[in-house]
Amino acid sequence: MQSSRPQLYDFHGVAMTHCVTDNWEKVKNFQARPDDILIATYPKAGTTWVSYILDLLYFGRVSPERQSSIPVFERVPFLEIAVSSVASGTELADLLPTSPRLIKTHLPVQLVPQSFWDLNCRMVYVARNAKDNMVSFYHFDRMNMVQPEPGEWSSYFQRFLDGQMLYGSWYDHVGNWWNKTKTYPKLHYMFYEDIAEDTEREIDKLCSFLGLSPSAEDKKTIVELVHFDNMKNNEMTNCSKRPFFDFSISPFMRKGKVGDWKNHFTVAQNEAFNEDYKSKMKDPTLRFRTEI
Ligand code: A3P
Repeated sequence: MQSSRPQLYDFHGVAMTHCVTDNWEKVKNFQARPDDILIATYPKAGTTWVSYILDLLYFGRVSPERQSSIPVFERVPFLEIAVSSVASGTELADLLPTSPRLIKTHLPVQLVPQSFWDLNCRMVYVARNAKDNMVSFYHFDRMNMVQPEPGEWSSYFQRFLDGQMLYGSWYDHVGNWWNKTKTYPKLHYMFYEDIAEDTEREIDKLCSFLGLSPSAEDKKTIVELVHFDNMKNNEMTNCSKRPFFDFSISPFMRKGKVGDWKNHFTVAQNEAFNEDYKSKMKDPTLRFRTEI
């Protein structure tokens, strides 16, 4: 199993694998539509959570059968995925019958296909504090057979700090998307920790960005459906249908907690992390709750 894991390589200055670059010509030339909504994240920041929230906001009431018959990763295609056992993201997106289309990507902002910018599409970025993001990514890399082999936690920790992860440096990813909010008003930047703290409040903010006004009852239903335990028990949202995930190693819906890093970081790692973090996170307007 180990030898078949993809390797990282440099792709336009970002560490990538062939599983997300093999379809690059189609990704680069992807034709967005003006009402497309792009959900962008560094992997493991809460992509599935926000994808499901958006899908429910748009289609929960109008087509409830979608929720019980189509996995969320098909309702919200993963733009750049190019793994032979599943349809490519561009193929799925092209076939989506819905309007708007909800499309997920982990691409760093500079690699987002040009047509999304040209059409002034709305985008939602979700960021998660680096420590929990790293831990979640580690467990994901263990169970996802199309991710590079994670190796031992201590070396993984160092690789994360060095930016040698699929999609490159967390610091660059969250920082460059944040910078984009300063010039591109159609980008809504969210934090995992905020959604965890008050899901309804964050849904309200998302709705005002999107110009949606769900009823109080619909909102209550959505808050309930997107609760971690409900998503974990829902075959359409727990990603149990992904053929390249090995759930005997770790579930996709793993813990869903803020602060799980405390169960993984040693005291020395935490000190090293904090020093490194200070040197990399220079923009005072981008604040993560790294200590919680
Ligand atoms: P953990 O590994 O910390 O549990 P992504 O969808 O970007 O791959 O992110 C997956 C992470 O988001 C996992 O984190 C998963 O458990 C968490 N997650 C997904 N849905 C969630 C929810 N409803 N509430 C809290 N966390 C959720």
